[in-house]
Amino acid sequence: MANPIPQHVAIIMDGNGRWAKRQGLLRVQGHEVGVQRVEEIIKAAQEKGIRYLTLYAFSKENWRRPKDEVEFLMGLLSSYLDKKIDALIKNNCVFNVIGEIEDLPSELQKKLVRAMEVSRSNTGLVVTFALSYSGRREILRACRKIAEKTVEGSLKPANITEDVFSGNLYTAGMPDPELLIRTSGELRVSNFLLWQISYAELYITQKFWPEFTRDEFEKALEDYKKRERRFGDTCAVSGGKT
Ligand code: FPP
Repeated sequence: MANPIPQHVAIIMDGNGRWAKRQGLLRVQGHEVGVQRVEEIIKAAQEKGIRYLTLYAFSKENWRRPKDEVEFLMGLLSSYLDKKIDALIKNNCVFNVIGEIEDLPSELQKKLVRAMEVSRSNTGLVVTFALSYSGRREILRACRKIAEKTVEGSLKPANITEDVFSGNLYTAGMPDPELLIRTSGELRVSNFLLWQISYAELYITQKFWPEFTRDEFEKALEDYKKRERRFGDTCAVSGGKT
């Protein structure tokens, strides 16, 4: 039986800079076109009935980039929120952020928090932007939260299950991604959702992020449909980890 549409798709959006260079443009122009693809893929995900879309927009490691580029990316995110958030909310999307948002400029933090608050009661696609995000740091943060609960006595070490652990991650309450897409051909997971992608199908395309159109997204979903998902078992299982 074909796999259905995944509930949760996570995307490592890579290759804006290389795409721009190939076109004879500045790196930042690659990011600008990247934002257009973000909008296009959010719409496509909504139409396909995907429930959760998680986009790696800025990693903890990305702070090492030149100051000008970092500032440009923060500005781009801020103007994206100014221009697009109302439409996203009107379309019944929930806006969500994971990562160490306290690292971001304070005005941007305020906009992000507002967008999360006003969209909280929506019931459609949950769009999560990973910002200043690191999978390892997310795991450490969960360990600390759990350690605190065991010290104060509200959680027994013997009761620390996979579900309990998942419930202490930023993604608490979300299903794990069934599909992880990476653009621009690198064969790495780059510190993204390390715990959550344990069973995810990987789809790696040579297309750079600015080239990752709706058609390319649909190809990824078609490819996912054909995958045989076994979760370590001997025969294919569709739709669950059992
Ligand atoms: C990877 O390209 C992309 C990023 C570091 C940032 C992703 C950001 C966007 C798609 C635009 C911002 C999003 C919003 C919603 C405002 P790269 O610069 O690593 O490309 P390269 O590997 O070719 O250098």
